[in-house]
Amino acid sequence: MIKELQIPLFDLATSLSSAMDLISPMVANHHKQVAYIAYQIASELGLPMQRRKNLILSGALHDIGALSFQERLSSLEFEIQNPHKHAEAGYRLLRMFEPFSQIAGIVRFHHVPWASGAGREYNNKEVPPESHIIHLADRIAVLIDPKKEIFSQAAPIVETIAARTGTMFAPELVEAFKQVGEKEFFWLDIASDLTAPYLQTIIPSDTLMLDPNETLALARLFAKVIDFRSPFTANHSSSVAIIAETLASYLPFSQAELVMIRVAGYLHDLGKLAVPVEILEKQDKLTPQEWNIMRRHTYYGYHVLQPLHDFRTINLWGSLHHERLDGRGYPFHIRGDELALGSRVMAVADIFAAISEDRPYRKAMPTHEVLAILQKNADNGGIDPEITAILRKNYHEINGKRLQEEQKSDHEYRLFTEIYG
Ligand SMILES: [Fe+2]
Ligand SMILES: [Fe+2]
Ligand SMILES: [Fe+2]
Repeated sequence: MIKELQIPLFDLATSLSSAMDLISPMVANHHKQVAYIAYQIASELGLPMQRRKNLILSGALHDIGALSFQERLSSLEFEIQNPHKHAEAGYRLLRMFEPFSQIAGIVRFHHVPWASGAGREYNNKEVPPESHIIHLADRIAVLIDPKKEIFSQAAPIVETIAARTGTMFAPELVEAFKQVGEKEFFWLDIASDLTAPYLQTIIPSDTLMLDPNETLALARLFAKVIDFRSPFTANHSSSVAIIAETLASYLPFSQAELVMIRVAGYLHDLGKLAVPVEILEKQDKLTPQEWNIMRRHTYYGYHVLQPLHDFRTINLWGSLHHERLDGRGYPFHIRGDELALGSRVMAVADIFAAISEDRPYRKAMPTHEVLAILQKNADNGGIDPEITAILRKNYHEINGKRLQEEQKSDHEYRLFTEIYG
């Protein structure tokens, strides 16, 4: 019997936030740094704890809408061209998860300049003061050079920020930053990667716990972050999730475990955030180097979720989807009975979804071919023959659900890409 799923929101959100920073060592820790800086400025301003916590989450997720590597990198330049698209995209993603509705509103305007107070509004919408704090924190973070000694950077950074008082940043926020910036610990925390453990100490007192449905909703939101990076993967994680759940319903899984396997399906390719879109969309065969980058994804996904204690089973089920029963999978080469039933379900669901979708280098396969490939994989010792048999027997039901899910994702994807016109 598995206990009811109870996941700390903050821990899950920060783990997912570190997944976003996997895309390049250049941005490693960026999201947590912004969260930390925003929190310190808000503390200096004496904002109530609830608003400070919202700022931590907003900072940890602020660039969630910048899905391509290029967008990520350009968001790290001090003066960005056209930053509002990724902010709007982030807003549309975050509002999918009800507990993030305020966070979504903050992220939406995190690049609006103060412009002598005109920045209280943007496109006739009210801009939350928190958006301006994230904006400032984000711009401070991008000015920090991780390769240089930190104290020598403090004064020039304060100067660069102060020179934009009133234009880019609200005067009272710059004033608060100047106060914070006088204290050595602030710079040392940032430079020594202590931001994450520090933030952890602020939150646990009243950590918001997610029930199974909320966990599912947050995982679904992240599935979009993973999938919407390319039209070729726009449905993939949602499809894997529904296929895995339906397969599992024919196996000894409890109700709670069915929710968990769906969550695992949504997050199974989390580590693909570390794979550049150019590789995801490549029309030719991958070079050995590109293939090496691609193959890291299961390891990264596993690693990012590993600190979440209550997510252990979900992580095993999701992240081990490229292991094979004969031990020739990756990255752990787990074989036979040691591979959990949920991981085996995921492996079948992943192959089924992948070959049923269009890829840059080939069209979706027809049913008979899909079933033949799955059978071949079962026969050669890769995937579980019993689960493959369940899929074959219930093909129409499972494929029907997959297609339904695909329609839903297509619709959401279109709404999402409209921003980029
Ligand atoms: Fe941004
Ligand atoms: Fe994968
Ligand atoms: Fe996958």
